[in-house]
Amino acid sequence: MFARAVAAFSHRVLQTSRRKSLSTHQYLSAAAIQYRSLKEATPEEWKVGIQQFNKVASSSQQAIRMLDMLRVQKGTNIGALVDLYEHGLQTATRAYRDGANEETIVVALLHDVGELITPISHGEIAGSILRPYISQQNYWILMHHEIFQAYYYGDAAGATVDKNARDDFKDHEFYEECIKFCEKWDQAAFDPEYDTLPLEFFEPMVHRVLARRPYTDPELLNDPINVAKSKIAGGYPEAN
Ligand SMILES: [Fe+2]
Ligand SMILES: [Fe+2]
Repeated sequence: MFARAVAAFSHRVLQTSRRKSLSTHQYLSAAAIQYRSLKEATPEEWKVGIQQFNKVASSSQQAIRMLDMLRVQKGTNIGALVDLYEHGLQTATRAYRDGANEETIVVALLHDVGELITPISHGEIAGSILRPYISQQNYWILMHHEIFQAYYYGDAAGATVDKNARDDFKDHEFYEECIKFCEKWDQAAFDPEYDTLPLEFFEPMVHRVLARRPYTDPELLNDPINVAKSKIAGGYPEAN
């Protein structure tokens, strides 16, 4: 008897979940979307599709997903006295207390969200995601910070690491700012005793930066890939 009741319940759950997944699909196909390849899409279909897309990829959802990339680092032992979640918060707290602007604080908070995904090129992860919304200088710092960080642990690491690899960029206009980012905030943010501010303090800042209109910094438009991407930005969710 009990087994039959369980089976009936499971069947109902299965049917309900099937109805749910079908109903989303049916809404789009029956209501307005028929295309099977992008080149068949009509303006009417596109309008309906982009409205749905904007519901699942709004700027505020982008911010939540980016913050989740930081949260997921919590509790992973990286061989230091703090984890990368704490390290990000502490880097941002130090930047905040030094009077950095909001965008730079957000860059400090999120600079290592890619470190466990691709350690050897992790600056590119945060850099790529934030690039449309931040200055060319902060983008450059994200892309190069791990090279500059080596200066501070190079002696401890020994011959396998060139602590002076940053010298390759000595003549670059953002060289000194990248040193400042690493010296004052990033390399210093491994102290478990530091009075680090909680994530809630920084969350609204992340939302505000990701709500900016993409590719508005004129300097970004010196790079052809940004010019081209700015030309198609209208096809993606508007800031909201
Ligand atoms: Fe890093
Ligand atoms: Fe870092």
